[in-house]
Amino acid sequence: MSGHGTALPMIAHRSGPLRGVAEVPGDKSISHRALILGALSVGETRITGLLEGQDVLDTARAMRAFGAEVTQHGPGAWSVHGVGVGGFAEPETVIDCGNSGTGVRLIMGAMATTDIAATFTGDASLNKRPMGRVTEPLALFGAQAFGRRGGRLPLTLIGAAQPLPVRYALPVPSAQVKSAVLLAGLNAPGQTVVIEQEPTRDHTERMLRGFGAEVAVEQIAEGRVITLTGQPELRGQDVAVPRDPSSAAFPVCAALMVQDSDILVPGVSQNPTRNGIFLTLQDMGADLVMENPRDEGGEPVADLRVRFSALKGIEVPPERAASMIDEYPVLAALAATADGKTVMRGIKELRVKESDRIDAMARGLESCGVRVEETEDSLTVHGMAEVPGGATVASRLDHRIAMSFLCLGLASRNPIRVDDGSPIATSFPVFEALMGGLGAQIARAGD
Ligand code: S3P
Repeated sequence: MSGHGTALPMIAHRSGPLRGVAEVPGDKSISHRALILGALSVGETRITGLLEGQDVLDTARAMRAFGAEVTQHGPGAWSVHGVGVGGFAEPETVIDCGNSGTGVRLIMGAMATTDIAATFTGDASLNKRPMGRVTEPLALFGAQAFGRRGGRLPLTLIGAAQPLPVRYALPVPSAQVKSAVLLAGLNAPGQTVVIEQEPTRDHTERMLRGFGAEVAVEQIAEGRVITLTGQPELRGQDVAVPRDPSSAAFPVCAALMVQDSDILVPGVSQNPTRNGIFLTLQDMGADLVMENPRDEGGEPVADLRVRFSALKGIEVPPERAASMIDEYPVLAALAATADGKTVMRGIKELRVKESDRIDAMARGLESCGVRVEETEDSLTVHGMAEVPGGATVASRLDHRIAMSFLCLGLASRNPIRVDDGSPIATSFPVFEALMGGLGAQIARAGD
């Protein structure tokens, strides 16, 4: 799995209407943070709805290696007995974060201000991704990183014995970098300040407060200023993880593509730093209604009712990019079935995700008969009445590329294959069963 195992070819055939209820798994970002904050707390953290995808399981294993007691009690029900801020023990073995950029970057932050060393590695995808964006701000606290050229993994991080607090303006809009700095700031004296020009997902700030830290957020001309008061005593909490909007986007977009579909996706987070995809789909003309909006465990959630809709291509507002950064691949697939062209700008960050997602989507769509144009930071997809399909697309160890093309295959003339669907297990292990339950014909290609 995720680059360590054998490839799992998968195929999607044109399908009849998708109908029913799609209970997507827990939010990946919140799941990682629940385990890490639980490990940095005193006392017990009880988690329900945890995503049991490989990325999160790798973080659970890492937290054990740093000394926390992490136990699974039932599906999605986990507990963490933490070691407290500054209480991480030095791991005895290498920390393998698999496919997960979020896992490795947040954990590096969480250990960077403790006087221990740890060596991190990942799969072939993760070991290509830039880590300098995290190790540079961590060096300001006094941590030292020794990695491969370009700051790539495998990498050894030596935590600062006498950390200094840091004031850091994010050079890229990244919640992972923001979170790494805030987690490092926990064990530094005084105030650690992060300034972000564009708001990125704010789960770390929200959850840090929930665990008892003092976090102030202020809006100034330069952006959002987040101030964390260091060395708090975090206390274990009950965390109810809402369903992941990034996973919900797959059945939602599939239902919009497949004629006469009508599905309900309950309990999906509507956090404003995550809901850009749903606003964009509505701008394209989607019959998508947020029913029963409510608050669950400190996050706004709603039930998404979505019915097949004739969509029109649009220019996606670039200022929305951070709030839907993981949804561009499935949006690009959906855009191939819309009337007219969809222009996605300001998406340079997609080039450093699990794969270069602009290139992966552009090449994959072309092989399915779709016209696209790309620049360094944009992708334009020309919609067509019927996508020819009939291609095998390379998923490039990227779960979202695999799922995006399998969704497109449900609405294309000829089946679409992906060469390897195994990375889907990193974020959405029940994807195949869930989509099958709605009526989608998605199978392992050998079946
Ligand atoms: C995440 C932040 C985003 C996102 C990733 C999850 C997080 O990455 O793409 O899937 O949980 O903080 P960046 O921080 O690189 O934008």
